[in-house]
Amino acid sequence: MQNITIAIDGYSSTGKSTIAKQLAKALGYVYVDTGAMYRAVTLFAIKNGFIGGKRDNINALVKLLPKISLKFVFNEKLGFAEMYLNDENVEKEIRGMDVSRQVSKIAAVEEVRYKLVDMQKKMGEEKGIVMDGRDIGTVVFPNAELKIFMTASPEARATRRYKELLDRQEKVSYAEVLQNVEDRDYRDSHREISPLRKANDAIEFDNSDMGLKEQFERIHNYALRVIKKQ
Ligand code: DC
Repeated sequence: MQNITIAIDGYSSTGKSTIAKQLAKALGYVYVDTGAMYRAVTLFAIKNGFIGGKRDNINALVKLLPKISLKFVFNEKLGFAEMYLNDENVEKEIRGMDVSRQVSKIAAVEEVRYKLVDMQKKMGEEKGIVMDGRDIGTVVFPNAELKIFMTASPEARATRRYKELLDRQEKVSYAEVLQNVEDRDYRDSHREISPLRKANDAIEFDNSDMGLKEQFERIHNYALRVIKKQ
C-alpha cells in the first residue's frame, strides 16, 4: 500500500490537531501542526519587541527570519512532536492567549509564509504525512490525495478552547475567547496571501455536534478508502 498525503484545514479551534494527531498515529504517518510554526514565529516577534508594544516592526522581523530555527522534536512520553524555537522548547508558550492575539498578524506576512510553506513542502516530500493548518490543501499540498476542511459553529469552538485555557489556568473570559475565535476567522479568511478557504476537492466536515470518537472513525475511514485505491 502506498503512502498518501493528508491535508486538514479549517477554522481555528475546530479540533483539527486532535484528529490529525490520532489519524497520523493510526496510519503510522508523520503529523505536522503548521499552526505551531506560525505561533513560534509570533512568539519570537513578541520576545524581540517587534509586536505587542506601541508600534509593530514587521521589517525587523523579516530581516531576522533567516536566523529563526524551527524544529519539531518527537516527545516519546507524550507521543507527539513538540515545537522548538532556536533550540528551546516553546510548546507551552505558543499555546497561550498572548500568542493567539497576535498570530494572525504574523501569518499575514508574505515572507513568513514563504519561509514556512517552503519548510512544509520539504517535510511532505516522502508522503505518509498528515498536516493541519489553513492553506495545506490549497497551497502547500494542492495534490494531496485526501483533503478535509473542518468547520464548527464559533460557539462550539469557543467553548472547547475556553475549557482548554481554563485547564491551563489562564485567566480569560468566555466572551474574550469567542471574540478571539471570531477575529481570527475573519483575519485568516480575509488576508491577501493564501487566505483560509476550502479547496474545491476538500471534504467539508462540520463537527459542531460530533464527539471525538465519531470524528476520528469517519475521517479514518475516508483515509483508508483513499489508501486502498492507491
Ligand atoms: O491552527 P492554529 O490555531 O494553532 O494556528 C494559529 C494561527 O496561524 C491561525 O490563526 C492562522 C495561522 N495559520 C496559517 O495562517 N496557516 C497555517 N497553515 C496554519 C496556521
